[in-house]
Amino acid sequence: MLTFEEPAVSINSITKEFGDHTVLNKLSFDIPRNKITTILGFSGAGKSTLLKLILGLHKPDQGSIEVLGKNLSKFRPIELREFRQNFGMLFQYAALFDSMTAVENVYFPLNEFTSLSMEEMIDKAKKLLISVGIKDISFDRIPSELSGGMRKRVGLARGLALDPLIMLYDEPTTGLDPITTKMVNELIVDTAKKNKDRGMTSIIISHDVKATLRISDYVAFLDRGNIVEYLPVKEFEKSTNPLVQEFINL
Ligand SMILES: Nc1ncnc2c1ncn2[C@@H]1O[C@H](COP(=O)(O)OP(=O)(O)OP(=O)(O)O)[C@@H](O)[C@H]1O
Ligand SMILES: [Mg+2]
Repeated sequence: MLTFEEPAVSINSITKEFGDHTVLNKLSFDIPRNKITTILGFSGAGKSTLLKLILGLHKPDQGSIEVLGKNLSKFRPIELREFRQNFGMLFQYAALFDSMTAVENVYFPLNEFTSLSMEEMIDKAKKLLISVGIKDISFDRIPSELSGGMRKRVGLARGLALDPLIMLYDEPTTGLDPITTKMVNELIVDTAKKNKDRGMTSIIISHDVKATLRISDYVAFLDRGNIVEYLPVKEFEKSTNPLVQEFINL
């Protein structure tokens, strides 16, 4: 078992190239356990690439990544697949299955990865839906019968189904209206609080500076393949790094 002092993710001098394009360049950075850390950066900075490396979907060309104390490069593919159960994901477009109801969407990962009975899975799925604010009248609705905000909630419930130790959010509010954006940000904070006793870590990739400054514990700024600033949120706001200032004042 990890202690709270240990990082959830430890990135050691990783380089990632696509052809002759170096997307991440000797990047090193630790993400603390049980906290909300947001990675900001201009489009093309390499944020999604970094996320894929953390998930083990890409391999670094150099350097190593440890997640929950395990070096990802030591895993065989099947072990990596198993290990990925430690992650929950909420994507920009909740990425629900169109023909499945809310409950079915949430029990999908349980069915895939656990040996719970159908009754137990449905029970857990319903509890998760309630915990993210979905009422029982919506349990059997398919995504097209839900609002955008509700779809996000269902997506989050599904991301939480396997009690992940690390919850990843890639642009969770991009393209949403201001009210839904506010709701999703509150949901992220609420989810982090509810899962604090389990030591869950939240990692957010975002463009939304205002929300980031409100909800994060730590903020990292990625620019052209490197973390150029990484501070507790209160200090990040006062960063004198010109790129950070430019981004904050956009
Ligand atoms: N599979 C790939 N093959 C080739 N190039 C890639 C691949 N994935 C990403 N890149 C390149 O890496 C760079 C960083 O991409 P990435 O998607 O990580 O940026 P990002 O910071 O997430 O941007 P955005 O904010 O627009 O989502 C881009 O120049 C992109 O074209
Ligand atoms: Mg991206």
